[in-house]
Amino acid sequence: MNASPKAAGPTVVRISGPIVTAAGMRSAAMYEVVHVGAAGLVGEVVRIVGDRATIQVYEDTTMLKPGAPVRCTGAPLSVWLGPGLIGNIYDGIQRPLPGIQKRSGAWIQRGEKVDPLDLTKRWTFAPVMRCGDTVRAGQVFGEVQETELVRHRVLIPSQVAGKVKSVAAPGDYTLRDTLAVIETPGGDREITMLQRWPVRESRPIRERWRVSLPLITGQRVIDTFFPMGKGGAGAIPGGFGTGKTITQHQLAKWSDAEIIVFIGCGERGNEMTSVLREFPELKDPRSGRPLMERTILIANTSNMPVAAREVSIYTGITLAEYYRDQGLNVAVFADSTSRWAEALRELAARLEEMPAEEGFPATLATRLAQFYERGGAVTTLAGQPASVTIVGAVSPPGGDFSEPVTQHTRRFIRCFWALDTELANARHYPAIHWLQSYSEYAENVAAWWEKQAPDWSELRTEALTLLQREERLQQVVRLVGPDVLPDSQRLILFIAEILKDGFLAQSAFHEKDTFCAPERQVALLRLILTLYRRGRDLVEAGVPLGRVRELPCVPAVLHAKETFGNDELPLLAELDQRLRDELDALAKQSAREGRQDG
Ligand SMILES: Nc1ncnc2c1ncn2[C@@H]1O[C@H](COP(=O)(O)OP(=O)(O)O)[C@@H](O)[C@H]1O
Ligand SMILES: [Mg+2]
Repeated sequence: MNASPKAAGPTVVRISGPIVTAAGMRSAAMYEVVHVGAAGLVGEVVRIVGDRATIQVYEDTTMLKPGAPVRCTGAPLSVWLGPGLIGNIYDGIQRPLPGIQKRSGAWIQRGEKVDPLDLTKRWTFAPVMRCGDTVRAGQVFGEVQETELVRHRVLIPSQVAGKVKSVAAPGDYTLRDTLAVIETPGGDREITMLQRWPVRESRPIRERWRVSLPLITGQRVIDTFFPMGKGGAGAIPGGFGTGKTITQHQLAKWSDAEIIVFIGCGERGNEMTSVLREFPELKDPRSGRPLMERTILIANTSNMPVAAREVSIYTGITLAEYYRDQGLNVAVFADSTSRWAEALRELAARLEEMPAEEGFPATLATRLAQFYERGGAVTTLAGQPASVTIVGAVSPPGGDFSEPVTQHTRRFIRCFWALDTELANARHYPAIHWLQSYSEYAENVAAWWEKQAPDWSELRTEALTLLQREERLQQVVRLVGPDVLPDSQRLILFIAEILKDGFLAQSAFHEKDTFCAPERQVALLRLILTLYRRGRDLVEAGVPLGRVRELPCVPAVLHAKETFGNDELPLLAELDQRLRDELDALAKQSAREGRQDG
């Protein structure tokens, strides 16, 4: 009666960094979650050949040995959804970092199991449905004040439809308490605040819409020149130190999305640490409350396994979709998708896949699409308008935009904020280059802007055209110097300088200018273009450009952005009037001089 020497059940046969091969896996399914080794490291099946499965492990495998047991779970990699997500800092597979830190006194330990949400906490729940109501998946059946800033809607889970048989009275409940019983054709279903959703699958919606509302970010070069739409997708490519992280922080802080999901794939070792330190200190500018009261952070520090980085963007987007389904506008920021793509490359190499361009797997484009295509402006299953906006930073080596990640990303986004190394070196921030950037949402959001300012499109086009003409004139200047240009062309150089310094440059650190309200953006642009239009008339009438340049209020126009805050528009209007008066006076004076000469 000898015991069989063979271990019962699936076992590890090969380990290559984060990639583990297990035998005895005939019953495993693709993308099924497994627990590897005695420590129960979390992994996902990514390939099955015969009875062998290749597993991508999300935790450090250094202590793992062949022969270790593997346990299948029968479920795909999923996140927990429910009140308590907001304000959390998670790793790529939704393990709460502060919770783990508290328990183990350090960063995550291998096989450490901490629930993504607190199962003991009581939430004050208010039902919005009654017995006898008919319900379907995605409908709101109750509300919970999750944070001061977020009213959480508890939703009927996917695939549940029927009649409400019982509803909990308003009161305090944990995530697993039964809040309602729904009578469905398949039997009674108990509803709790806690749901799960597989991260690689998008959550259902009723309908997708053309993007029509701008995501107001308070950054002039973005909102006025290259606007993002609520439900749009955009990229911020830029070399090292050009401002990707600062720009994304500005967007996270200021954009008018109700929920922010920030996925950090640290560029430098300590960058994520600074995010983890800084974000909890940031204030929501509108309410003065901590920004974390409407934010979820997903942090991949550089010492975490690459597989966790690979899955983190899907974890982040799934959490975003969940809040979208509650009828909210959500913005997702990923910094940087290049680090994420490098995780893909490393995993593909371990899997011995045939590499495509620069060693990236041939699936790079598909994988990027699977991320960006989950954004959009929608009607939720409950019939509410809502959106997920996605902005990914890209860090091409050497700032060269022809590399594969930037190139493939371009196919799936419609807003491209190109950060320029020369501008960053000249300390022109944000270093978003006005000639290399574009937004295909400008037309979509024009109607919204024109309700605030009927001349918005006209101002925008005129300013962009001026900057394009300036670029061509600069080529001439480089060849022959500025002196040969006629005043009408030198006026363009002069106004372009004011546009760049007095409008496009915007310091993230200037108290008054860090956020520029839409009305102020229009007022500033109109002010500068008044100087241009009237100046052009004067120059055409023979007034020397020098006299326009020397108008007493020109310096005030240049510094208006930092002089007048968002609540000082009347003062800005006064400056506008002063400028017009000075231009009128100059016109009269030159007319007089003209008569005297003649
Ligand atoms: N909008 C801005 N306003 C002021 N300074 C900026 C701005 N954007 C970038 N910077 C400056 O550029 C530096 C590098 O920016 P960062 O976002 O860290 O670059 P990246 O993430 O591209 O490597 C910042 O520390 C800051 O000094
Ligand atoms: Mg950065």
